[in-house]
This record gives sequence, C-alpha cells and structure tokens, in this order.
Amino acid sequence: VRELRVALIGGGGVMGQAHSLGWALAPAMAEIGASVTKAVVADVSDDVAATAAARYGWAESTSDWRSLLTRDDIDVIDIVTPPNLHQPIALAALAAGKHVFVEKPVTNDAAEAAELAEAARQAGVVNQVGFNYRHIPAIGLAKRLIEDGALGVPLQYRTTYLMDPLFVVTDFGWRAKKSTGGSGVVGDIGSHILDIAEYLNGDIVAVTGRLRARPDERGWIDDAERVAQDLTDDAGVWLAEFANGAIGTFAVNGWSSGHKNHLGFELDGTRGAIRFDWNMRDALQISSADDPVEVSGFRTVMSSGEHADVWTPVPGLGLGYTDSTAVQLQKFVRAIVGGGQASPSFADGARTQQIVEAVWESAESGQWVAVAPRGAAVR
Ligand SMILES: NC(=O)c1ccc[n+]([C@@H]2O[C@H](COP(=O)([O-])OP(=O)(O)OC[C@H]3O[C@@H](n4cnc5c(N)ncnc54)[C@H](O)[C@@H]3O)[C@@H](O)[C@H]2O)c1
Repeated sequence: VRELRVALIGGGGVMGQAHSLGWALAPAMAEIGASVTKAVVADVSDDVAATAAARYGWAESTSDWRSLLTRDDIDVIDIVTPPNLHQPIALAALAAGKHVFVEKPVTNDAAEAAELAEAARQAGVVNQVGFNYRHIPAIGLAKRLIEDGALGVPLQYRTTYLMDPLFVVTDFGWRAKKSTGGSGVVGDIGSHILDIAEYLNGDIVAVTGRLRARPDERGWIDDAERVAQDLTDDAGVWLAEFANGAIGTFAVNGWSSGHKNHLGFELDGTRGAIRFDWNMRDALQISSADDPVEVSGFRTVMSSGEHADVWTPVPGLGLGYTDSTAVQLQKFVRAIVGGGQASPSFADGARTQQIVEAVWESAESGQWVAVAPRGAAVR
C-alpha cells in the first residue's frame, strides 16, 4: 500500500484539531488505497506547533512552513490557517509539486482564488477545498434524487446557516476584521451553503443581497459604517436565480439565538420536495407529489447505512462533524491514488468565492449582480 506523508499548516487551531482527527480516521473508516502518515504539523511558534504535535499525534513539528516544501518526504500539504494565508501557502505548495488541500473559503478574494485555481490546473496535482458538509450521506442522497428526476423540475430552493456564537464569544481574533483575514459570515458559513446549493442545483446566475453587522448593544449598524470600520458582516440575506430556472433564498447569521451550527436547505420540485437539517444530519426528509393526498407529507429517511465511506454498518448509528471531515479526506486520497481530480476543487472554491463577491457587490450597490457562468471563470 502506498504511503502518503502529510504536513498540516496552521494545525494548532480549531481546524487543526478537526483535520488531525480526520487524517487519523480517513484510512480507518474505509479502504482508501493508501496509508496516511501524519508527518509534520506547522504553526506560528515552535511551542504551539509542538503542543499540537503531541496532542494530535504528528511525528514532527515546526514554526517554518516553508521548510516543508523542499522536503521530498512530504506528499501532501493541508492548509488550515486563516483564509488570507491560504493563497500564498497553496501557491508555494503547488510550485513544489505537492498535492494540496485547503480549508474554505479558498481565499477571501475571487481574483486570488481564480489565480490559485489556474496554478493548480497547471501543476496537475490533486487539489481540494474543505467544504466538508456536502460529503455526508444524506446530502449525497439528495443529489441522487435530484439527478434521477425524482423531484421533477426544481422550483424553489431555501437555505439557511444560522448560529449564535456572537452572543457568547468576545474575542473573534482574525475573524473580526477584513484586514486580519476575516471572511464575514457570507464568506465563512455562507460559502458552505453556496457550495451545497450549486452542488445540488447547478449554477447560480444572479444574486441580490443585504449585509449587516452588530458590533455593540445596538441593532444593526449601517453597512457603510461597517465597511468604514473594517468590520466583517455578521449577517446576510440574498435572493438567487439558478440556471435551471429555480429561484432561491439564502440567510446566514451569527446572531441567531438558539441556533447551533444550524445548516439546512429545502428544495421544492414539480414532483416532490426534500428537506435537510444538519442538526439531524443522518436524515433526509422526502415528500412525493404522487402520494395519495390523505397520506401526503414528508417522510424521514435515515441515510447513513448505505454509505461506502463510513465505518458504521448499521443505519442510525449516527454520523458527526468529524466523519464529514474524514470522508472529504478519503476522497482526496483516492484522487491521489487513482490519478484523478478531487471535488470540490480549487476551481470549485474559486467559483463559490465569485458568488460570495457578487453578494458583497449587490449589498453595496443595492442591485442585482449577474454571476458569470462557470465556463467563463478560470477552471
Ligand atoms: N470546514 C469547516 O467546517 C470549518 C470550520 C471552522 C473553520 N474553517 C476554516 O478553517 C480555517 C482556520 O480556521 P480555524 O477556526 O481553525 O482558525 P484558528 O484561528 O483556530 O486556527 C488557525 C491556526 O493557524 C495558525 N497560523 C496563523 N498564521 C500562521 C502561519 N503564518 N503559519 C502557520 N500557522 C499559522 C494560527 O496560529 C492558528 O493555530 C479558516 O479558513 C476557516 O474558515 C472551516
């Protein structure tokens, strides 16, 4: 079995822990055609890196991520730093011929993201972005139902990603400001629901949105004041039109009291509908317009048992966030071993960032903003 030696950059933070668990689980949950060695973890200081190495089981640690690129014994660079560092580190890793995984958002800037996607295409290595949620079985089932035509023609897509950390966390570190690498909720959690929306429905062609922030006890401040203060957006809403004719609504909010990582979507089609809620992530709710009217309604299908990538052989044993992190890494490894492309790629991440920026632009102008078709973007 081929050995893949991984280096994790930014491994002392939240996603450093999640990816460390993911790399440990990925080869254990299913056959992926390679063994994984957690070779080196890098972070800003020797202390932070050494602590992460000891706790999460990495063989070595360093405070100099550049030193990893010239090492022949590193095959994969996994980047989990704040987003403003993704592009320079990923470009250097691609130039060194490494396979590269990068957390979402791929960058905070669509032009930078397009440049990165082009560099990845030219490098010919496997590249993937950490949109972990789309990989879970219930969302896979949703995609199959849509593609098989079970829901008919897509009509309306409604999606939300609601959280309440802003009520309790006082120091948001790099996330608080654009200038320190913050993505705002549209780029941060909004990118996840945009990725899933296009994964399921295909291209978005136009958006119009509004963004707000609430830096103190007042309600929303004026958005121009937010931008002038270098603050990231705390909440956003936008409408979207899809190329397939469906219309959509999106809402993201860090000030949604009671909502705990509450990602969800609903799709209505001409023959039925589906409903998904991350807080009940093994289940997909399905309604068919063909059901007799007296028993029509949503039924709940538990989807985890039929999935080849997860270890749980019995439906209903339950998946978690860490499973989604591991499943995406399994797919990344399989693409390396099989010589294929991984998905979502840097090009997909750049595409998502293009829509994030269209939402930003429409919030500023108050107008609808057209999103260029995928083929027009650098792939
Ligand atoms: N997919 C998901 O569900 C999910 C969830 C949370 C965060 N994220 C993404 O993961 C990334 C990291 O977020 P986080 O919450 O883990 O942040 P974090 O602040 O907890 O961790 C970032 C780490 O990067 C390190 N770092 C900063 N500059 C560095 C440098 N020059 N060299 C090496 N290390 C450096 C920091 O010291 C820190 O340990 C972001 O892109 C974020 O959007 C994804």
